[in-house]
Amino acid sequence: MSKIILTGDRPTGRLHMGHYVGSLKRRVELQNSGEFDKIFIMIADAQALTDNFDNPDKIRDNIIEVALDYLSVGLDPTKSNLFIQSAVTELTELTFYYANLVTVSRLERNPTVKSEIKMRNFETSIPVGFFTYPISQASDITAFKATTVPVGEDQLPMIEQTREIVRKFNTTYNCEVLVEPDALIPENSICSRLPGTDGKAKMSKSLGNCIYLSDTEKEVKEKVMSMFTDPTHIQVSDPGHIEGNAVFTYLDAFATDEDFAEFCPDYKNLDEMKEHYQRGGLGDVKCKKLLLNVINKELAPIRARRAQFEKDIPAVYEILKKGTDIARETAAATLSEVKNAMRINYFDDSALIQGQQEKFNKK
Ligand code: TRP
Repeated sequence: MSKIILTGDRPTGRLHMGHYVGSLKRRVELQNSGEFDKIFIMIADAQALTDNFDNPDKIRDNIIEVALDYLSVGLDPTKSNLFIQSAVTELTELTFYYANLVTVSRLERNPTVKSEIKMRNFETSIPVGFFTYPISQASDITAFKATTVPVGEDQLPMIEQTREIVRKFNTTYNCEVLVEPDALIPENSICSRLPGTDGKAKMSKSLGNCIYLSDTEKEVKEKVMSMFTDPTHIQVSDPGHIEGNAVFTYLDAFATDEDFAEFCPDYKNLDEMKEHYQRGGLGDVKCKKLLLNVINKELAPIRARRAQFEKDIPAVYEILKKGTDIARETAAATLSEVKNAMRINYFDDSALIQGQQEKFNKK
């Protein structure tokens, strides 16, 4: 069986370091591994509208930001098909049919939907479109017969629900049309959920605690230098705490032994630095300077590629358009198989028409 990747992001803002370590970096590695037959990367504008339907310009403007972020991290349109969800209308059609296979109580139990309803204060009036987005996500994945879905941990319930829909479809219609996908989550748990610069649980635009891939060196410096550390570590000589200290969490996610050799040769590795910090005698500024160097090293090639692509924005839209055309072909082929399995392929089935004629002849 061929190995196919599908994944995507909602275009509600520029992508940040949380997206990078949680998913983007991995996608580029997978792309360059040559192990996959096809790779589809989707800008999920239709899904973004499920909780931003009243703010369409936000989604409209962020399509290009996300596309630039994709290209600048090294997703290569000759290897990865980049496309826009809403333009693949087959996905909406699949969603309508899959909706028959899902109960309201199952959607209510989806932990991601549950927590998002709380976050958005939707408790008293949940828009149906939002409530059913896990079904639409199942369409995104199955339309491409994806075997592998690289995502952050928060998306696991979506993949689980997709797998259920696949099994239900294939058994109900006695076929093997749909493929059960596997999620691929980061091995390093810190990468699955990178905290914000304020030390809060998650990097998130609404909390204003993000480092964006498109931030300038100056912006990153300001953010790193004002990062949350350990409020009890007042004098350099005080013993410091690592747990909940955002600087160390980031160093855990990014710093390699080579980084220490290059930027902070006083320590061989992060363990040695942590030990000194905990013992007392190591100031925050030194740790922050190391982190700043490490982040800038990671972001420098990304910034350089972004600057190139920003010079020709029409070409970026053209990349998306080409990718969308290919995505549509693939999704249309799956939709056609789905409709065959569901026995709603009337005009493509000459035996049906002939058979019906014979039935009436016998009357
Ligand atoms: N729900 C994902 C997010 O919020 C975006 C998304 C939409 C997605 N459809 C997908 C991810 C299909 C993986 C597969 O980031």
